[in-house]
Amino acid sequence: MTKNPASSSPIQGERKKVTIRTLQEKKNRGEPITMLTAYDYPLALAVDKAGLDAILVGDSLGMVILGYENTLPVTMEDMLHHSKAVQRGAKYALLIGDMPFMSYQVSTTEAVRNAGRFLQEAGMDAVKLEGGRERVEVVRAIIGAGIPVMGHLGLTPQSVHALGGFRPQGRSANAAQHLLEDALILEEAGCFSLVLESIPGRLAEYLSQHLTIPTIGIGAGAGCDGQVLVTYDLLGFFDRFTPKFVRKYANLHDEISQGLAAFLNEVRTGLFPASENTVEMSETEWEAFLNSQVGREEGG
Ligand code: KIV
Repeated sequence: MTKNPASSSPIQGERKKVTIRTLQEKKNRGEPITMLTAYDYPLALAVDKAGLDAILVGDSLGMVILGYENTLPVTMEDMLHHSKAVQRGAKYALLIGDMPFMSYQVSTTEAVRNAGRFLQEAGMDAVKLEGGRERVEVVRAIIGAGIPVMGHLGLTPQSVHALGGFRPQGRSANAAQHLLEDALILEEAGCFSLVLESIPGRLAEYLSQHLTIPTIGIGAGAGCDGQVLVTYDLLGFFDRFTPKFVRKYANLHDEISQGLAAFLNEVRTGLFPASENTVEMSETEWEAFLNSQVGREEGG
């Protein structure tokens, strides 16, 4: 796909709320789509201010925020709590709530209700869910309720046990064919976009060319219509591991450690707080206070 990066930079004063149509128009024009995850107010504010097209409140929060081993323990209540905070911080980006494990697998009715909660209670614009042909009925029902759905194929972390670990997908001709079919099924069902995670770059490019809806890649190479990363990975704020496909643009973990060590040291050595960090009162009031104590102290 030919990309047109120059025309993708926001012109000041012209910024508009991003919708699913904006993403489609970007694909049509060959402009790269940008998406990052956020889980709270300050990060959402920063990502939105940076000009990203979309913010995914990913269930990756289970790992990077809540410290679980994988995303399976994440609940609807966790997702809504964080989605509400993100919504308060982001004005322009398209907001996508990630449906957690077991919120859409049990029944179509429950899936529609849970998807609706992301929009009704947390101000999201759309939802994302994992899986291909096995989820098509649920995808259709959620879209039928007027809720835009982003699909997610390839390495689908909620199926970590079924996949035998966090491993790349679609590397055999059969697996690639299966992924292509799933992608076409989800497009036909009405998904407005697909996340392609950890699949060969040439397959992701092929899928992107054979779909009319935009693909957003993570560990799927440069041939996708857009890119997403877990923001804590690219900022170097998640300490446990960094997937091979991540590029670190900052090292917040180290910076935070340095900041905390400096605080500890300055408190211990009396350098903090300084006078500028201290609340003052006027000399007159202080004198009046001390004078008022004289009789009291003498009296006992
Ligand atoms: O949960 C998440 O952050 C995701 C992205 C990795 C696409 O699903």
